[in-house]
Amino acid sequence: MIRLALPKGRNLDAALAAFRAAGIALSGLDAAGRSLRLALPDEGIEILSLKDWDLPTYVGHGVADCGIIGSDVLGELDGDLLVPVRLREGRCRMSLIGRSPGSVPGPGGQVRLATKYPNTAHRLVAERPWGAEIVKLSGSIELAPVLGLAELALDIVQTGRTLAENHLVEIETVAEVAPCLVVNRASFQRHRALLNDWIGRLEAAEVVS
Ligand code: PRP
Repeated sequence: MIRLALPKGRNLDAALAAFRAAGIALSGLDAAGRSLRLALPDEGIEILSLKDWDLPTYVGHGVADCGIIGSDVLGELDGDLLVPVRLREGRCRMSLIGRSPGSVPGPGGQVRLATKYPNTAHRLVAERPWGAEIVKLSGSIELAPVLGLAELALDIVQTGRTLAENHLVEIETVAEVAPCLVVNRASFQRHRALLNDWIGRLEAAEVVS
């Protein structure tokens, strides 16, 4: 039995679509309701339903063998997870956001930058000629520049709808973000044949790169 962790958030649909396209049956999942774990004995899989930010912890400790998680979350962690493939569906971008392009300060300037991704933000600001106080938030990041809590935000942009509806602009795309298959190192040895089969099927279905 292999334990697969699936995220509750934005990457769940992309994960299910990729497994379906690859012919990896996760039947019964839709009917799971609010159950947090679901055994699929015929497939030899147990599925865990986890919050995005907790999922790498479960995989890192080997409680889950593998999972699907966004590279935005992985970028905040020091973990030692294997990332054999990135899904094509569900991609988005991490961008610097503000009320106008002029929200970016000139050299030597200082701003507040709101984000869910403080480590990524610190790395970004370290490369800039301006400084920033990082304001860590948990969600609805776009409200910060709208209401003046911060001049800039670093956040995910997918359709751009949140920006448009809040009269914000995408000042700079910082990184592409993709849902990733992550695997615990010891689990990769223990379930090598099955995981290699899954990766081969995902590649053959052209849903990963
Ligand atoms: C993310 C992100 C933006 C939104 C962007 O929020 O933080 O708010 O999606 O998507 P869009 O470009 O398609 O509008 P998420 O739904 O993950 O929830 P959050 O507010 O908790 O960050």
